Amino acid sequence: MIALTGSTGALGGLVVPMLLDLAPRLLVRNPERAPQLGLDVRPVSYDDATAATVALDGVDVLLMVSAGEAADRRDQHRTFIDSAARAGVRHVVYTSFAGASADATFTLGRDHHDAEAAIAESGMAFTFLRDNFYLDVLPLFADESGVIRGPAGSGRVAAVARADVADVAAAVLRDPAAHAGATYTLTGPEALSLADVATRAGTVLGRPLSFENETLDEAYAARRAGYPDAADWQLDAWVSTYTAIADGSCATVTSDVEALTGHPARTLEQALADGSP
Ligand SMILES: NC(=O)c1ccc[n+]([C@@H]2O[C@H](COP(=O)([O-])OP(=O)(O)OC[C@H]3O[C@@H](n4cnc5c(N)ncnc54)[C@H](OP(=O)(O)O)[C@@H]3O)[C@@H](O)[C@H]2O)c1
Repeated sequence: MIALTGSTGALGGLVVPMLLDLAPRLLVRNPERAPQLGLDVRPVSYDDATAATVALDGVDVLLMVSAGEAADRRDQHRTFIDSAARAGVRHVVYTSFAGASADATFTLGRDHHDAEAAIAESGMAFTFLRDNFYLDVLPLFADESGVIRGPAGSGRVAAVARADVADVAAAVLRDPAAHAGATYTLTGPEALSLADVATRAGTVLGRPLSFENETLDEAYAARRAGYPDAADWQLDAWVSTYTAIADGSCATVTSDVEALTGHPARTLEQALADGSP
């Protein structure tokens, strides 16, 4: 029995149709928003150990899509991972982040390191899908006037199409034993500067986009002014998205997508156009 989380979101929503023949169970926060495909749908939120224990009963293999940004995300993840281990889940496939580590420049990469550690400590088999930033999300960083602003300088990012992450997840879930203990770093086919991303995404989207560098101080000041209620951890996450590009920590291109899916990693244009490989 396979269970999938995140099916109401972009990534998980792409995985579900690829695994319909395996009749996966869908674990969702709101069953009304689950894909209506005749599958077994169970309500669960990562921070609800009681619901998780019920929802995970009988599950062998679990796709755990990382939770949305939250101050207590590490605790949410740990509660769910602990519930999975108690419920007898044998193998967890977790969507992590490229370069996840305790001191990752991208501060949310530290949360992913914590989740990886919790899964490894749980004794369950695991496969970590360390996704780079999503290619199809980078253009959304542009403001209304089409400018992507941040302290990325001329650094490069080997961003990956979400559709490729979904293809990899489906391939791993079809044959989990073959991927037990593996950590894959999922990237696009090239490392792009944000100036490249702006120019090329603008062409596909038919909307001129550009990149303007900011200093660290300018980046924090702009975000504090735009989001006065944002907590420090959120500001750090937003700004470090760019500094992680500036310092090259997200620039390494791997061949893992092609090795796992049999097709080349999607380009920026493919990720933004029809999504086809
Ligand atoms: N690499 C990157 O560039 C990048 C960019 C954005 C996000 N991410 C990470 O990758 C994940 C998947 O991306 P996505 O594009 O599919 O995000 P998404 O569209 O926001 O979907 C997130 C999914 O996770 C579910 N979820 C979130 N928090 C949860 C919780 N506490 N308990 C149970 N379910 C929870 C959501 O359920 P609801 O529908 O109920 O909210 C949704 O189904 C994100 O959650 C985030 O951690 C990575």
